[in-house]
Amino acid sequence: MSQPRRRPTVVVMGATAEEPPPGIDDAATMADLSFAASAPALAEAIADADAVFAWQSHRELLPEAWPKATRLRWIQSASDGVDRLLFPELIDSDVVVTNARGIFDWAIAEYVVGLMLAFAKGLLGVVEGQRQREWRHRPTELLAGKRLLVAGVGPIGRTIGRAGRDLGMEVRGVGRRARSGDDVFESIAGTEGLAGTVGWADYVVDALPATPRTRHLFDASVFGSMRRSARFINVGRGTTVIEEALIDALREERIGGAALDVFEREPLPSDSPFWELPNTIVSPHMSGDFEGWLEAVVRLFVENLGRFVAGQPLLNVVDKREGYVVEPTP
Ligand SMILES: NC(=O)c1ccc[n+]([C@@H]2O[C@H](COP(=O)([O-])OP(=O)(O)OC[C@H]3O[C@@H](n4cnc5c(N)ncnc54)[C@H](OP(=O)(O)O)[C@@H]3O)[C@@H](O)[C@H]2O)c1
Repeated sequence: MSQPRRRPTVVVMGATAEEPPPGIDDAATMADLSFAASAPALAEAIADADAVFAWQSHRELLPEAWPKATRLRWIQSASDGVDRLLFPELIDSDVVVTNARGIFDWAIAEYVVGLMLAFAKGLLGVVEGQRQREWRHRPTELLAGKRLLVAGVGPIGRTIGRAGRDLGMEVRGVGRRARSGDDVFESIAGTEGLAGTVGWADYVVDALPATPRTRHLFDASVFGSMRRSARFINVGRGTTVIEEALIDALREERIGGAALDVFEREPLPSDSPFWELPNTIVSPHMSGDFEGWLEAVVRLFVENLGRFVAGQPLLNVVDKREGYVVEPTP
């Protein structure tokens, strides 16, 4: 990216000067910052902006202001998934989008390990038994030796896979195309054979981005091909799942359970069946949000801003058509 002609102007979208992102002062040494938390404020501020730091990506904010964004060259997303940020005019433009890839990897991997242990050790039943003052001894499952299939072999999927290996699990992955394995994944299958692949696994973890091509990949045929004892864990995006098919599989106990951190509609409506399905753990899209993640995201933005000012290549450039940071595959 070539050097901007002057000190750049950056709009922090979805934040206010009264409640700024923590550590954003470090960016003010390199750029003129303004804050815009509403559509009218953004439309006004974006006219002068070289860059936007999308602290929050409300679907409607940026498209409304877009006709005014004539100087804009770069958008940094504060999240890893950019599905709520991208829209057709942005995709077709020369504006570069970067994301927060890499920040959430260990937090999510630890969370997935926690979920697998909760299932294997029956921890929800343990807590319930304590509440009932019930002394009921029983054996628990081992994770060691179990089979973990991770759909999405990006940095989050890889870290989940690495953690699974450290626990003694057999680990395979699913990417866009089948390819040979590596130090984390014994093998990597392509999504075209997903239904044929999931039957191998005791735990199926979805760590996929929301893109047009991952939409509804987990359908009735995939859930129907899972083992009756297998658990499905989704920390990627809700749109990758046909939720009705998952609800049926859980209700009829055709799979062993599910732990869901992401949903097609968020917040999950209070009348959603997921809240009360058997063997189901629901969490409010929080698996990546470790204490300190806000500061970490701002540090990444400041690093990229320094690169932007110096005309150097930016970190985490999203392939806007694919909807994620595409790495060359072997
Ligand atoms: N729950 C949370 O709190 C939270 C927090 C952060 C992120 N996330 C989600 O986690 C996702 C994964 O993040 P990440 O940084 O690890 O990686 P990413 O860059 O978003 O995704 C890359 C991986 O997805 C695979 N992929 C993309 N399209 C595919 C398709 N059509 N079929 C099969 N695989 C496909 C890629 O396959 P190839 O290797 O073949 O290219 C690659 O392995 C994010 O996109 C976000 O949605 C959730």
